[in-house]
Amino acid sequence: MSLEEKARLVVGMGMNIPGMPNMSNGPTVGQTMDKVPGAAGTTFAIPRLGLRTTVVADGPAGVRIAPVREGDKNKTYYCTAFPIATLIASSWDTTLAANIGKAMGNELKSYGMDVLLAPALNIHRNPLGGRNFEYYSEDPIVSGFMTSAMVNGIESNGVGTSIKHYAANNQETNRNQVNTIVSERALREIYLRGFEIAVKQAQPWTVMSSYNRINGVSASHSYELLTSILRKEWGFKGMVMTDWFGGYDAVAQMQAGNDLLMPGTPNQVKDIMAAVENGKLSMAVLDENAGRVTDYILRTPSQQGYAFNNAPDLTTHAAIARQAAAEGMVLLQNKSQALPLPASVKSIAAFGNTSYDFIAGGTGSGDVNEAYTVSLAEGLRNAGYTLDATLQQQYTQYIADAKAKQPAKKFFFELPPPIAEMPIDPALLEAKANSCDVAFVTIGRNAGEFQDRQQPNDFDLTTAEQNLLQQVATAFHAKGKKMIVILNIGGVIETASWRQHADAILLAWQGGQEGGNAVADILKGKVNPSGKLTTSFPLQYADVPSANNFPGIELSQEEVKSSFGMSMGKPSEVTYEEGIYVGYRYYQTFGKPVAFPFGFGLSYSQFHISKLVLSQPQFKGSITATVTVTNTGKVAGKEVVQLYLSAPARAMHKPGMELKTFAKTKLLQPGETQTLRFTLQPKDLASFDTQQTAWVAEQGTYIVHAGNAVNSIHQRVSFTLPSSLLVEQCQKVLVPQRAINELQPPR
Ligand code: BGC
Repeated sequence: MSLEEKARLVVGMGMNIPGMPNMSNGPTVGQTMDKVPGAAGTTFAIPRLGLRTTVVADGPAGVRIAPVREGDKNKTYYCTAFPIATLIASSWDTTLAANIGKAMGNELKSYGMDVLLAPALNIHRNPLGGRNFEYYSEDPIVSGFMTSAMVNGIESNGVGTSIKHYAANNQETNRNQVNTIVSERALREIYLRGFEIAVKQAQPWTVMSSYNRINGVSASHSYELLTSILRKEWGFKGMVMTDWFGGYDAVAQMQAGNDLLMPGTPNQVKDIMAAVENGKLSMAVLDENAGRVTDYILRTPSQQGYAFNNAPDLTTHAAIARQAAAEGMVLLQNKSQALPLPASVKSIAAFGNTSYDFIAGGTGSGDVNEAYTVSLAEGLRNAGYTLDATLQQQYTQYIADAKAKQPAKKFFFELPPPIAEMPIDPALLEAKANSCDVAFVTIGRNAGEFQDRQQPNDFDLTTAEQNLLQQVATAFHAKGKKMIVILNIGGVIETASWRQHADAILLAWQGGQEGGNAVADILKGKVNPSGKLTTSFPLQYADVPSANNFPGIELSQEEVKSSFGMSMGKPSEVTYEEGIYVGYRYYQTFGKPVAFPFGFGLSYSQFHISKLVLSQPQFKGSITATVTVTNTGKVAGKEVVQLYLSAPARAMHKPGMELKTFAKTKLLQPGETQTLRFTLQPKDLASFDTQQTAWVAEQGTYIVHAGNAVNSIHQRVSFTLPSSLLVEQCQKVLVPQRAINELQPPR
């Protein structure tokens, strides 16, 4: 390979963004920017050497490409919108995640592509994170297990994944410039742990480095992150690509081990060639980067000449999406068994804009161009219910009028402003409380790339929403009828101030294109809900441990330009003062009450978790726990058993308890029992000891807790570790530039 060929191989083929200067990296041999319209990027082809172009596309809820193509009027290229990642994780079912992955990978391959830019596993550090819906959890174990399953599912098709965004990319505000100041321990235990699990368990084809800086160094320029940890410590064998237009110094990126720059700009090619010519970049480094890109290309369907048919089985995939959506919805409240709806319920008064304009998933690169979305109203109708026609007509008209008045988008991914709740005429409400059997109120939220959420009118409900909930509850309760609330949201909202009005609350998340049908399956009792929260619902925003440190501070008024001239925001920084106490690790350890805790979710049945037994009283090499689950209720259902561990806090402070592993039962018939088995390895006992730069399990007594929520522990047993174990020696890297005043529990 010539120097130019190598330099072109490590830089993608560019991308045209409407309204932006043309940033294509051509024309050259192998110009293939438009092989799959709407895909996110392509790599360089070298026909002389038989290397073909490969195509990568988003994203976490399904493949994102253009659904229609110019000059190809008779065919469509829709993809399935699967439920958002947070919903998938809320199923606590890794087999389900793998099945969704299989279907996504199949669509990717059927449309002629090679890598899905997914799964995404950043941590829900703060409920206002604009892309939380794309991510699994506030907990790294859930994130890591779900990612491994998803990677294995997608890659079983012979296509690749790009697990993203590595690492500590937990906000959208100033995402390209923000310097995340975080302790080594919090990095290792919270922000890197899920990636570590996924790399070790599933060895994904690629990893996507993130935009942000970590302790002063941009992730895509960080040798410590991409080489010392990812490759040398964890044994990653694949290729690293940047996030789109991430970073500013192509040469430093090559040296860090960031093999592929995406989507790629002509300047990056020039810079790399010049650096080799003037000796700044050694040919050996470039050879390694280009070698890893070549190894990647050789694995792809495009390289192997796969004859794709542009005809994935969307019907079968829609059925998978529907089943998955129902498995991950969480029943938060169910007073006097308001749900499932009794057979006497026939007519429904559906309130709330989103009842009619259901949200399938978030915006930005996590969006999917699906052929249709089943709304709540349609789902209920499909299930045989009668929806009140006047309400339906008024809402539909109101939404259409409001949409027509919305300002034109200023940029491609802009999130349209939410439509204010339609005020309800009191006389109409009274009439509906008389004529309908039950009321539904849907509260909707959307978010996406580029923007974090706000506390007022987003985390907190709007006044109009609060009024609607109160008025509908009053009117229907006066007639002895119930009000069911459906949360069609992608991130956590405030629930404590209004939940008393609701008879039942179903957290439907954003369930993909079949969301409305999945909700109806649960409401009708066709599916017994078994989803559990993978992220805590605090009583109020101020209770969130990072509330005072999100999204950080801007450091100057001056805008920073990236290497290709686009404004990328102001330098800023955020300090993770909460340290390892993220989500339930904080609420549980510090005794802070929450609205709905991590791991929580109701069922139409009840389960008894018993007989937690350990293989031995002392830890030697590993330890096995078995636990029995019995369905003691009247209907068939599934239960999730979560295994938490309390470790002795000797030299290091520790969270009250931490999730270590989990399992979901099969569908248990009333009276049926299943025994689940778990194994704890030395690493599960260990915390990251900054003094020793090592994972260390401290000597003492460990308590194993088995339960179905962090605050609902049914069984406890303990074992001892007779002497401390140095489980893994690590390298002293990613050290914060200054001391952090980190949160610690009183000792
Ligand atoms: C996002 C990535 C995405 C990429 C390509 C970026 O803006 O952060 O998640 O994969 O665009 O669309």
